[in-house]
Amino acid sequence: MDSRRTFLKMVGLKMVGLKTAGALLGALVMPAESRWQGLLERSIPKTGEALPAVGLGTWQVFDVAGDAKELAQAKETLRVFADGGGRMVDSSPMYGSSEQVTGQLAADLGIRPKLFVATKVWTSGRQAGIRQMEDSIRKLRVDRLDLMQVHNLVDAQTHLATLRDWKAAGRIRYLGITHYHAGAHGDLEQLVKKGDIDFLQVNYSLAEPEAERRLFGAAAEAGTAVIVNRPFAEGAMFRRVRAKPLPEWAKEAGAASWAQLFLKWILAQPAVTCAIPGTRNPRHVADNLGALSGPLPDAALRRRMAEHFNSL
Ligand SMILES: NC(=O)c1ccc[n+]([C@@H]2O[C@H](COP(=O)([O-])OP(=O)(O)OC[C@H]3O[C@@H](n4cnc5c(N)ncnc54)[C@H](OP(=O)(O)O)[C@@H]3O)[C@@H](O)[C@H]2O)c1
Repeated sequence: MDSRRTFLKMVGLKMVGLKTAGALLGALVMPAESRWQGLLERSIPKTGEALPAVGLGTWQVFDVAGDAKELAQAKETLRVFADGGGRMVDSSPMYGSSEQVTGQLAADLGIRPKLFVATKVWTSGRQAGIRQMEDSIRKLRVDRLDLMQVHNLVDAQTHLATLRDWKAAGRIRYLGITHYHAGAHGDLEQLVKKGDIDFLQVNYSLAEPEAERRLFGAAAEAGTAVIVNRPFAEGAMFRRVRAKPLPEWAKEAGAASWAQLFLKWILAQPAVTCAIPGTRNPRHVADNLGALSGPLPDAALRRRMAEHFNSL
C-alpha cells in the first residue's frame, strides 16, 4: 500500500494512540514529492507559489513552554503535521510562548525548511512594532519570515508601512492583515482593495460564514490570498455535533469525520488559500490533514452541509 493511502487509512480509521499514529507516519519512507502527491494545494495569487490548503494554528495550544508533557504533545503534533504534508504554521506574539515553542520544536525536528512560518505584529507604534517583529524572528529561529501579518488591525497603517519596507529588503516574503470577527470585515475589505495586501486572515466557517458575502470577492479581485482562522469556531462546532452521527452523504465529499466535513465546506470556497485549525492533538492534526484528499463538495452538497449544520 502506498504511503499516502496508509496515511489516509489512518485518518479514515480514526486510529487512537499517539504511538500508533507516530509509528505509521514514521514508517513512511517515500520521497516527499510522491508521498504528498494529490493533496490539495492552492496558489498564492501574488506569486503562484503553491501551499497545502490545511495549516496549523497555535493559539493557546502551543503556549506550553513551561510544561514538559504538553510540549511533547506539541512536538508530536508538529511532526505529524509536517510528515503529513502540512506547511503553514500560524503564530503571534499575543499567543504567549507559542512563537518560541514553534521555533524550538521546528529546530528539534529539523523541519524548519519545510514550514511556511506566519506570525503577526500586535502592538502600537513604529519602533515598538519593529522591536516585536525582530523578537518574533529570533523566537521562531528564522532568517526571514514567510508571512508577517498585522494582528487584529492594531495600528495597521503604521505597521503596513514598515512591512512594505521589510518586504522590499527581503526580511519577510509576504505581508498580511488579520481579524477574527465579522465586525471588522468592512475595515479589512477597505485595506484589501488597496491591492498590495498579500494575505488576508479572517474567520470563516459553517458557524461564521459572513466573510463570503463581500470580503472574499474583494480578496479575489485584489489577488489577495485568504487564510481562514477559527475554522471550527474555536471548537464550538464540535460541541454542536457531539454524539451526532456523520451523515451518510458526507462520503460524497470524501469526509470521514466532522472535522473533515467542516474543512471541506471551507476549502470548497475558491477564494480560500489555507485553513489553519488549532490543535495540539496528533490525531486531530492527522484528521484535519485528511481534508486535503478526495473530492470537495459541489455547490449543492455545500448547501446541504449548511442546512444540516444549521438544523442541529
Ligand atoms: N480564535 C481566534 O480568535 C483567532 C483569532 C485570530 C487568529 N487565530 C488563528 O487561527 C487558529 C485557529 O483558530 P482557533 O484555534 O481559535 O479555533 P479552531 O481552529 O476553530 O478550533 C480549535 C479547537 O478545535 C479542536 N480541534 C481541532 N481539530 C480537531 C479535530 N480534528 N477534531 C476535534 N476537535 C478538533 C481543538 O481541540 P484539540 O486541541 O483538542 O484538538 C480546539 O479546541 C488559531 O490557532 C490562531 O493561529 C485565531
